[in-house]
Amino acid sequence: MPTLDTRRANMETLAAWNANAASWDAKMGEGNDFVEILQWPAILRLLNPQPGQHILDAACGNGLMARRLAALEASVTAFDFSSNLIDYARQRTPAEYPIAYYVLDATEPTDLESLEHFQFDSALCNMALFDIATVEPLFHTLAQILKPDGAFVFTLMHPAFNNPTSIHLLEESDLSGEVITQYAIKSSRYMSQFQAYGLALRNQPRPQLYFHRPLDYYLNLGFQDGFILDGLEERAFPPEVPAANPLSWGGQFHEFPPVLAARMRLPR
Ligand SMILES: C[S@@+](CC[C@H](N)C(=O)[O-])C[C@H]1O[C@@H](n2cnc3c(N)ncnc32)[C@H](O)[C@@H]1O
Repeated sequence: MPTLDTRRANMETLAAWNANAASWDAKMGEGNDFVEILQWPAILRLLNPQPGQHILDAACGNGLMARRLAALEASVTAFDFSSNLIDYARQRTPAEYPIAYYVLDATEPTDLESLEHFQFDSALCNMALFDIATVEPLFHTLAQILKPDGAFVFTLMHPAFNNPTSIHLLEESDLSGEVITQYAIKSSRYMSQFQAYGLALRNQPRPQLYFHRPLDYYLNLGFQDGFILDGLEERAFPPEVPAANPLSWGGQFHEFPPVLAARMRLPR
């Protein structure tokens, strides 16, 4: 597949997320197994949201994380570049929740400037950095708009085990006289950055672009902007969690984490 330049890749990404917004909102709703079992427990530990804190939810989708944070009495500013998703986010949000939603493009420094009058206690970007055509503007902006000691927590599809080249394998043998089944993940690409079409959820109307980056790329961006890494979790399904399909992510792949959660922090 030809690599699109950042601007065209971003336009393609926006068109896909707007086209998929209704299906994403209907299927994702307020969460799924990935959210409940892998992401949210790690986010609670790493972000440690407290009542009264002002938290940024970057690339918020239909706002499911913003609402979870607001339910814990945080005040939330949330943005996404898909106006269709922001419409769903607003529709789903009870009037009493202190959430302000904005349509902003995380690749556009001028859009991000509109956040610069805030000083956030912390920021979250749940399962979205790999969907964003370039993440440098977001990291630079976060370094400006977080308070001293402020934390930026992000979750990723684990770039080593759950990237667009990852293949899920089930192998069976009886070489030693007993039937042995083994689940494995095969990946053909990790170190270099690339774009690839994929599916965020099965049967979505339109595939969207993924932007694969190795882990050190994200961490070094943070380090360059003055963050330190002070929390990291690799999140796998426990063995007892059934998978929706024989080879989709579930407890049979408990040795492999499909999700990685990291906390980067500014100095005091
Ligand atoms: C996998 S969804 C995650 C949504 C949400 N954070 C959640 O946890 O459900 C990825 C989101 O990234 C958003 N996104 C992609 N590129 C973006 C950009 N340049 N600016 C803002 N949002 C973007 C998409 O619109 C989509 O809502």
